[in-house]
Amino acid sequence: RSRSDDDYDLLMKVVLIGDSGVGKTNCLSRFCRNEFQTNSKPTIGVEFATKQLTMGNGDLVKCQIWDTAGQERYRAITNAYYRGAVGALLVYDVTRRKTFESIERWLRELREHASADMVVMLVGNKTDLETQREVSVQDGQDIAKREGLLFLETSALDGSNVEEAFTRVATEIH
Ligand code: GTP
Repeated sequence: RSRSDDDYDLLMKVVLIGDSGVGKTNCLSRFCRNEFQTNSKPTIGVEFATKQLTMGNGDLVKCQIWDTAGQERYRAITNAYYRGAVGALLVYDVTRRKTFESIERWLRELREHASADMVVMLVGNKTDLETQREVSVQDGQDIAKREGLLFLETSALDGSNVEEAFTRVATEIH
């Protein structure tokens, strides 16, 4: 059957978190609009976009993905950002070790503000910059295992694994 935009079975709110410049906004635009921006500016406040996904059983899920600033001074009020969220993508940049070292801090924020049963996917972004890599796949896998997170490496630039990352979170929630 054909369905209109507002005819979905489930709405899920998924939030993007991680340090400034790791590629949150570009993961969102790659997933929702198949777009990439070489010179994207830091996000100020909150933006969101939606994308419909068809689950294995045919259910139509509307993903509402929220993106906020990694930079503290541009961040929106944290409680409102996490309210009602059932999934999160915690993004770091595989070419900047510092962004990987921030993961524990982001997990603390999640534990403070988000629901305990939220599905969290750890995402190592920018795999297209292989020669500049500062975080190994193994490092990502290890922390994900220790913290009980899903894990994938992505590139918003070439698109690899971006759809998979969002789809896996949606599937896990659904
Ligand atoms: P804030 O809004 O400040 O929190 O940053 P952000 O995490 O949303 O990062 P954003 O998507 O704005 O990307 C920051 C920079 O990294 C931009 O110059 C992007 O073009 C670049 N970038 C994002 N994803 C990738 C990627 O997968 N590969 C490469 N090579 N560059 C990327």
